[in-house]
Amino acid sequence: MTIHESEMRVFLPPVALAERATVSSMEAYTAMCTAADEDYEGFWAKLANENLHWHKPFTKTLNESDAPFYRWFDDGRLNVSYNCLDRNLQHGNADKTAVIFEADDGEITNITYSDMHERVCQFANGLKSLGIKKGDRVVIYMPMSVEGIVAMQACARIGATHSVVFGGFSAKSLQERIIDAGAVAVITADEQVRGGKRLPLKTIVDEAINGDVCDFVRNVIVYRRTGGDVEMIADRDLWLHEVIADQPADCEPEWVDAEHPLFILYTSGSTGKPKGVQHSSAGYLLWAMLTMKWTFDIKPTDIFWCTADIGWVTGHTYIAYGPLAVGATQIVFEGVPTYPNAGRFWDMIAKHKATIFYTAPTAIRSLIKAADADAEVHPKKYDLSSLRLLGSVGEPINPEAWMWYYRNVGNEHCPIVDTFWQTETGGHMITPLPGATPMVPGSCTMPLPGIMAAVVDETGNDLPNGQGGILVVKRPWPSMIRTIWGDPERFKKSYFPEELGGKIYLAGDGAVRNDKTGYFTITGRIDDVLNVSGHRMGTMEIESALVANPLVAEAAVVGKPDETTGESICAFVVLKRARPSGEEARQIAKELRDWVAREIGPIAKPKEIRFGDNLPKTRSGKIMRRLLRVLAKGEQITQDISTLENPAILQQLKTVVTT
Ligand code: PRX
Repeated sequence: MTIHESEMRVFLPPVALAERATVSSMEAYTAMCTAADEDYEGFWAKLANENLHWHKPFTKTLNESDAPFYRWFDDGRLNVSYNCLDRNLQHGNADKTAVIFEADDGEITNITYSDMHERVCQFANGLKSLGIKKGDRVVIYMPMSVEGIVAMQACARIGATHSVVFGGFSAKSLQERIIDAGAVAVITADEQVRGGKRLPLKTIVDEAINGDVCDFVRNVIVYRRTGGDVEMIADRDLWLHEVIADQPADCEPEWVDAEHPLFILYTSGSTGKPKGVQHSSAGYLLWAMLTMKWTFDIKPTDIFWCTADIGWVTGHTYIAYGPLAVGATQIVFEGVPTYPNAGRFWDMIAKHKATIFYTAPTAIRSLIKAADADAEVHPKKYDLSSLRLLGSVGEPINPEAWMWYYRNVGNEHCPIVDTFWQTETGGHMITPLPGATPMVPGSCTMPLPGIMAAVVDETGNDLPNGQGGILVVKRPWPSMIRTIWGDPERFKKSYFPEELGGKIYLAGDGAVRNDKTGYFTITGRIDDVLNVSGHRMGTMEIESALVANPLVAEAAVVGKPDETTGESICAFVVLKRARPSGEEARQIAKELRDWVAREIGPIAKPKEIRFGDNLPKTRSGKIMRRLLRVLAKGEQITQDISTLENPAILQQLKTVVTT
């Protein structure tokens, strides 16, 4: 039974919120869906004209001639940074706070829209002075900071395509991304500070671009965050403050085509190589704005807080672009939810009077644990009365965590928007609308207007409600992925497979719709992608990292349900030497975990490692992953194992090595 079928509780949108909401009833929602159904292109054209500033108007809304390489807003020209900043200056927001930045140590800095504009222009001029121009790729490996956002906006201003790499990725992962993107410059910081600890970002960049493999990287621009020691390489490395010193505070935006690649963001797929998800300028920004308005019901007086990192898509759409494009005031936080204690989020909401709070289920679950253990960090100890809307993103939220969030953080008067979406979708896809949709814990409810989501079988036929299947989107939408950078064939194969007709978007998730309400519940990935603490990771990536270790002959990685992180990584390993036990097994397991941290990043460390003389395989040599998943869960094997070549090893693989 799925969560959804067993879940009977329904929570209605608060009346006071609904009265003022952008979408204020199910009738209003249905009317918008009908408008999209009746005239799909007209629906989007109207929104694009109303919401974006066009330097040159578009002449065609949707061009499907080269499907699935859909093009939106042909002939239109605009600039994303102009839309996010200059427009705010023109519309009376110059002195409005754009960002309330809270550093790890609690220091607060307020940045107005005019400050932001000035900083972005200076940065953009600095980039130009280094010869960086439209179409160049720039990798950003930065801590959560105003400078990180400014760097992204500055790239957008000059038409350079950025690729932000999460600060938790290793030198090797960073290098792979720099090479794949062919970046001419890397923007980084001396160090990142999180939870009182420093991480040497610049040193990691040095390691990543050492030697000839990255000799196309001309410059490394370094933001001085801590003043920690770094080595500056002559002719290549520059301090950010020196690059921007004396640069004019104005920079004419580079007007680009609607389809111009705003950014590439790498994400995991079912092969070992991460995919460079390429997004457009106009379609992406349009959806960032619309979802700020529809899903978050953003108002001029709101204090919006999205706790994501700019290294993930959530931090792109709901920190670096969406909030600025709609002229909101947002909180940007450098640190972690548990430092100096697990009350940090609640303390910050109270201090800054946040009205909208958007976070991940993993964070909620770990804060529930912390509040259970220590009443002092329970949200009820803080004044959270400023909140009016809560959001969840990145992984399924279990009904218990939903209820706790609703009661203890939202005080039973804040709707929770459980937003389902992906790096590839650019913005929310299936989510309640806070002033309209009756909410059911654990369900992301209904697709946004204009999003033609459906549940189908393997051949693309619609399934009736109540029957689980594959989640697809039947029509292109403006903020969808445009291609995989440098690999259009993989783009087609991954997202528009021939089995489904080659024109409908395959999300990679399973879903089921409630037979009475039609509400969607996401049932998890249907490919070899794991979701650990809301971080997306490919099992193949971790397996490749493991087998690259000289001790390892073979490895298989599966996900295991985890109370806090949603899923955890469980690795089954065959060594080139005899199967270890006792202290030796512990030592090697530790070595392998550290190895994966170095190869990919600490987020990919297997939580559990188990050693066997072999892996369970069919007679044709295929690893039986379903058995490994059962073993990982510690459940009894009830499946047919008659095709298993080597049943004896199942017993060995039950032993977890604790490190
Ligand atoms: O499996 C779905 C899960 O996260 C995947 C997308 O991960 P990523 O590209 O890293 O983007 C995360 C932030 C948007 C999806 O394929 N997922 C995301 N949101 C939800 C979710 N699963 C269930 N409910 C959600 N609200």
